[in-house]
Amino acid sequence: MQKLVIEGGRPLRGTVTASGAKNAALPLLFSTLLAPGEHRFTNVPDLADTSAALSLLGRIGCPSLASGDAIRLDATRIAWCDAPRRISARMRASVLLLGPLLARCGEARVPNPGGCAIGARPIDQHLEGLTALGCRFEVGEDYVHGIVARLKGADIWLRVPTVTGTENLVMAASIAEGTTRIRNAAREPEVTALCDYLNAMGARIHGAGTSEIVIDGVEELRPTPEPWEVVPDRIEIGTWLCAAAATGGDITVERAAPHLLGATIDALRAAGCTIEVGSGWVRCARKGPLRAIRLVTAPYPGFATDMQPLLTVVAALAPGQSVIEETLFEARFKHADELSRMGAHIERDGQRMRIRGVDRLQGAVVTATDLRAGAALLVAGLAADGVTNLLQAELLDRGYEDLIEKVQALGGQIRRAEVEVQQQPGLNREEDPLIVG
Ligand code: EPU
Repeated sequence: MQKLVIEGGRPLRGTVTASGAKNAALPLLFSTLLAPGEHRFTNVPDLADTSAALSLLGRIGCPSLASGDAIRLDATRIAWCDAPRRISARMRASVLLLGPLLARCGEARVPNPGGCAIGARPIDQHLEGLTALGCRFEVGEDYVHGIVARLKGADIWLRVPTVTGTENLVMAASIAEGTTRIRNAAREPEVTALCDYLNAMGARIHGAGTSEIVIDGVEELRPTPEPWEVVPDRIEIGTWLCAAAATGGDITVERAAPHLLGATIDALRAAGCTIEVGSGWVRCARKGPLRAIRLVTAPYPGFATDMQPLLTVVAALAPGQSVIEETLFEARFKHADELSRMGAHIERDGQRMRIRGVDRLQGAVVTATDLRAGAALLVAGLAADGVTNLLQAELLDRGYEDLIEKVQALGGQIRRAEVEVQQQPGLNREEDPLIVG
């Protein structure tokens, strides 16, 4: 087990380069199963989750080679349609194997992801949509087994605009017979990025980025002749902007995509920060005091649930009362208890937090319960007086590439250290904190 030791209280200043997006890279990697041949990607973030996805693909017969941020992946042959449990059970995104494997092999067996640290997270909409396309499922306690003779296009209405659910259905429908129409589809930029890649491989997908996606199935997809670049990580970018806001610093993020950050930028402006945007960069600076905010999470283009823990830290330092409501995940509040250890005043009222801002946070021993809670505690530690020991730091490696180096380049005092397991307070051992993302 590892921890981050953070000596806080210094404004973070400087320029940092955003990495490729975890949640865009994962569906791209799994989508390769749809198209036999060699796929090449650039700007792939070096993360625990992308490594896990590549070893998962390797285990089912698709080897890959990484060189810096470039990946070559050979999807010529699929040897097994049974996802190895040890790797896939630890990464929720392995559910994204379902659509491509069913489409290419007519069969898929993946671990049933079940609940995780941020909520129940059912996959009923994935299964209902794939059933409409002709699949039949057997759902065991710890696995989902699907078979299909030939996928056939269908009209699908999603009860919730699920991100990975939409991605699974778009992938499967790409090489289904006939037309599929997905209503109430997720509009997240990572869904659009996946559709762009599928279209570049020969798919016929219209309406990506809107809530109605229409897919005219084609016979086959082929890898693109040129390497495909993974889009920047809007949540990582938002994390650096929040670090500037919370520490009273001034950070410019390069290789950014500010147009994907509308709701986060609005929230930070409302909190009293100065935000400037340009082509491929965004800057956040804070000189004066923060202001209280009111936020409600919503599917894109609304305020992202992944940014909620980070804005909680900003609100914890803003004079007055802020209110933040979480509407997507029922258990995404665990950072609040940990922030309270650092002196934050946060009251839970159902899915709502009332946050009374304090002047300063104090360093403490805190635990990352999931990736974004961990990022929030990192930012809190950077802003706080004294030393913060952030336990279960491995969780941050799932979503933040070169984290220590980037924080240090911005003037933050941070180092990684090993920790004895019995030193971890507040960790509920009945939950597997690794099943997130
Ligand atoms: N939902 C259902 N049924 C389903 C699927 C989802 O009821 O079949 C509900 C969920 O319980 C939740 C809501 O729909 O209340 C939205 O969940 P969604 O399916 O959109 O989430 P996801 O696809 O599992 C992705 C990201 C998450 C991000 C959410 C929301 C990936 C790999 N993960 O998860 O990212 O929080 O969308 O934007 O893309 C992270 O990066 O830390 C992370 C958790």
